[in-house]
Amino acid sequence: MIEKKTPYELQLFVCTNLRPEGRACCSLRGSDRLRDALKDWVKKHGLQQRVRVSKAGCLDLCEQGPNIMVFPGGTWYSDVTDADLPSIIERHLRPLVAEPLG
Ligand code: FES
Repeated sequence: MIEKKTPYELQLFVCTNLRPEGRACCSLRGSDRLRDALKDWVKKHGLQQRVRVSKAGCLDLCEQGPNIMVFPGGTWYSDVTDADLPSIIERHLRPLVAEPLG
């Protein structure tokens, strides 16, 4: 095993799990679109080396999806909509744009 420090200052885990049997799931509630929008924002602002937006499997709060976890800090967002993205961006991503690469 090799242990090392994560290269990312911020990691967002967006549940994109699809439950084909018709049960509530983040994917059917638009999580793929949310993830794509966050990834696009990160890329547009040149943060790809510092921020990772990853797909997550089921986080076990399916009825409250879409669910997004943010680390460090461990913030958990549920029932996220497109309208919530600006506030998530302002809180977690925008501050990194103003900071020089550390
Ligand atoms: S499908 Fe997203 S938490 Fe279960």
